[in-house]
Amino acid sequence: MTIQQPTDLTHAAMLGLGVHRPERLVTNDEICEVLDSTDEWIQTRSGIRTRRFASEDETLIGMSISAAEKALAAAGVGAEEVGCVIVATSTHPEHTPASAPQVATALGITAAAFDISAGCAGFCHALNLAASMVRSGAEKHVLVIGVEQLSRFMDPTDRGTAFIFADGAGAVVVGPSESAGIGPTAWGSDGSQAHVITQTPSCLGGHSEVDHPVVQMEGTAVFRWAPFAMAEVAHEALRLAGVSVDELDAFIPHQANLRITQTLARNIKLPDTVAVATDVIDSGNTSAASVPLAMEAMLRQDEASAGDTALLIAFGAGLSYAGQVVTLPPLAG
Ligand code: UT7
Repeated sequence: MTIQQPTDLTHAAMLGLGVHRPERLVTNDEICEVLDSTDEWIQTRSGIRTRRFASEDETLIGMSISAAEKALAAAGVGAEEVGCVIVATSTHPEHTPASAPQVATALGITAAAFDISAGCAGFCHALNLAASMVRSGAEKHVLVIGVEQLSRFMDPTDRGTAFIFADGAGAVVVGPSESAGIGPTAWGSDGSQAHVITQTPSCLGGHSEVDHPVVQMEGTAVFRWAPFAMAEVAHEALRLAGVSVDELDAFIPHQANLRITQTLARNIKLPDTVAVATDVIDSGNTSAASVPLAMEAMLRQDEASAGDTALLIAFGAGLSYAGQVVTLPPLAG
């Protein structure tokens, strides 16, 4: 007996991008009504000026659906054509069931749907899974969503996290293309640094407004690690794709901190001609949603165009990291 395998290997690309940015804009001054900090300190140390927090009626699943609908429209792909839905998140409030099946059902999709957890690197991990499925012929179209509702998981008085994290969702449809639009992924992990970013049941924060374990972070440890370790990952992603740093149009790293982005750009010797994503200034750090949100901001603001070549790099809890060279997708409408 022979087990059948799909053999029609193809290229994969992001065919469409959509995002959901929550309505409520939160300034540093508002954060500092509770947090012992200042607008000036936050801007100087992180670059962040504003971020968005989901309101009562903007759930993690609702934000995912909203972003996914726009991504499907941008790709011109119908719900019935989607063969798998992957949601990357660390802030779905339930351990079980996963968020993805509920997102899929709301979109009219009955295909396989599951969540993955790779912290802030979740979107780039999910993109690799989706591209591998499409390339192998296992599925034709895969919906990838990065979404977070971190405002629900923060201690608003914690000076190390309260001003950084924020909410939002970004989605892409990955499907077949004539040329490679998603390069091989350089990825890895370092569990010896698991303690650096945590969200464990013992961390309830002691605040009545926090109803779930809060995120805790040794920010300085991440700050010392990311700009140097991620430079090597960037070089590896470029090498795997056969693209030189001069051939990039855009650099879209995880929006953790503007200073990390700037140091990383210097460390990989990024030419001044390459546009650099700075969405952290307006949106804060939205963890698994930050790369697709930053991609959308660059396309919307004409800092980059669909079809441009971009380097994505994401890193965070685990520690986990992933990066790949991609062709930027179109936005809806
Ligand atoms: O997305 C997942 C990955 N996460 C990240 O990438 C986050 C990476 N880390 C960071 O972004 C930075 O480490 C932070 C922005 C979190 C902190 O910046 P830092 O430059 O590492 O500050 P620090 O913790 O070393 O603190 C510097 C000073 C200290 O005062 P002294 O000892 O120099 O007098 C702190 O007590 O700033 C003080 N400080 C604050 N002051 C006002 C610490 N937090 C605050 C605050 N407001 N929120």
